[in-house]
Amino acid sequence: MTQERQNLIVANWKMNGAFEMANSLLEEVLNGTRQFKSPSIVICPPFVYLQHVAQLIESNSSVSLGAQNCSEHSAGAYTGEVSSNMLKDVGCQYVICGHSERRQYNGETDEDVAQKAISIIDRQLTPIVCVGETLNERQSGKTDLVIERQIDSILEHCEKQLVDRITIAYEPIWAIGTGRSATPEQAQEVHHLIRNRIATLSQSAADGCRILYGGSVTGENAAEVLGQIDVDGCLVGGASLKAAQFIEICRAAQR
Ligand code: 13P
Repeated sequence: MTQERQNLIVANWKMNGAFEMANSLLEEVLNGTRQFKSPSIVICPPFVYLQHVAQLIESNSSVSLGAQNCSEHSAGAYTGEVSSNMLKDVGCQYVICGHSERRQYNGETDEDVAQKAISIIDRQLTPIVCVGETLNERQSGKTDLVIERQIDSILEHCEKQLVDRITIAYEPIWAIGTGRSATPEQAQEVHHLIRNRIATLSQSAADGCRILYGGSVTGENAAEVLGQIDVDGCLVGGASLKAAQFIEICRAAQR
């Protein structure tokens, strides 16, 4: 059985921004998307701007706040870390976890990512768990293996009733920031694999799970990838810093 899934468009500003940029970018995005009934939109600025962005989007019900990472620990002597509790405190509803840049530069393992996802769910927030293969892995025919390993690690740690609280983002590493997006067919193939994998634990969670695509999404290519049956939104990096581009992506995601 398939069910209608509302598209979700997530802006990952990464380590970009300043108060001024947040003000002007958000004003344009909020004005430009106000007339859209869907999709749901999430803005993920760097930690230090979360509260500021929370205030700017306060009265806009279709736009939510998200963070780019959090600690797997709930509190304690973890200098420089931020807990999911704290993120909830400042108004976050979503937290990206396991982004490939964190796996690559901060050594986050599948196990770490699973622990983070659990701590996010524990706080009644929605984790956006990122998975994706390197170019080398794709070219050597290992895409399915890598994705299954990353998804299985999450499923192993989550009890059945928690799986439907997770959003997944498929972000092929070779497509991130390269201008070389996956083709709609490549995205659909992996999204379908992910949904099938989740179905091994819970068919209803698989039917309801939003699976986002990320990697060089622009206003020009968003409609095509969003037209795929198992693509339920986008995780947007570079184009989320350009209001006109981001608005076009949101326009393409209306259902
Ligand atoms: P780009 O959209 O810049 O390719 O980045 C994708 C991404 O990593 C979003 O999390």
